[in-house]
Amino acid sequence: MKIVLAALLVMTAFGSAAFAGCARRGGGKPEIGVAIYKFDDTFMSYTRNAIEQNAQGKAVLTTVDSRNAQPVQNGQVEQFIARKMKAIAINPVDRSAAGAIIDKAKAGNVPVVFFNREPFAGDMGKWDKVYYVGAKAEDSGTMQGEIVAEYWKANPAADKNGDGVIQYIMLKGEPGHQDAELRTEFSIKAVEAAGLRVQLLAEDTALWDRPRAVEKMDAFRARFGDQIEVVFCNNDDMALGVIESLRKAGFFSGGRYLPVVGVDATAPALQALSEGSLLGTVLNDARNQGKATFDISYALATGASPADAGWTITGGKYVWVPYQKVTRENYRNFQ
Ligand code: GAL
Ligand code: CA
Repeated sequence: MKIVLAALLVMTAFGSAAFAGCARRGGGKPEIGVAIYKFDDTFMSYTRNAIEQNAQGKAVLTTVDSRNAQPVQNGQVEQFIARKMKAIAINPVDRSAAGAIIDKAKAGNVPVVFFNREPFAGDMGKWDKVYYVGAKAEDSGTMQGEIVAEYWKANPAADKNGDGVIQYIMLKGEPGHQDAELRTEFSIKAVEAAGLRVQLLAEDTALWDRPRAVEKMDAFRARFGDQIEVVFCNNDDMALGVIESLRKAGFFSGGRYLPVVGVDATAPALQALSEGSLLGTVLNDARNQGKATFDISYALATGASPADAGWTITGGKYVWVPYQKVTRENYRNFQ
């Protein structure tokens, strides 16, 4: 009896030890930590879903919401490192915080893949196990500008005051974010490169956020009224906020129209394109950015070479996923 009990105890002990080991290693699958600057961001939720889908059956992910606070994210990253995750994928809250994250990751020998918010080149160079997955922000700006230029040339009535100049509003994403700064700059450069003249009425940030964009556009309408001829928005959520504000003033029905452009090609933006409110957007390819982020993280986590992960790596560290212009002619291909 005693012997049986002892044997049982030993077996249980072995069993649970084996089980704990298994759980810790996810049944042999590597553990990867993922931190998103905030879950409540339309485009990031698409990217997060793509990362999670690609991880299925291959890795055990721990995905955390950094709630738009860098100190929160720093704590999460420290946890990932302390738990000896095999790799971490970080969407920084503040891209200037990447340097400190890299120092910690390097000390713990945990490779890092940043995505969507590009660290400064100097920080990227701190360690060879640091990668970035993103898109060339300037290209999205250029494509937006081309969409507007094409529309302007085809629709002489768009020049409401007939002065041959585009009077426009610029709604920016988060200041300092490469996508906000470069989309703002390159959209206008492309309009000018198309031989058109522009006049900025006002520029402001709505922090990528739809409700904030409604408020800002309400104020711009009150201030500029019919002087506004085009509205550029650094992303679709803000463009949809602008459209919501314009609807209140009777636009997008009975022949009243104002061209508004965004970036991301979210589902609601494609819906707005189909309804004829949004003039155009640019596909920010969450599916492929998420896949590349996972594939590179997984390669690093398993000791494989990221160069063999199926993506072109530029400068030894960068995976660039291309943008695509989305207009009334082709939006169906993106739905
Ligand atoms: C941009 C995207 C925005 C927002 C931002 C978050 O690439 O266009 O909608 O998601 O990333 O960093
Ligand atoms: Ca004009």
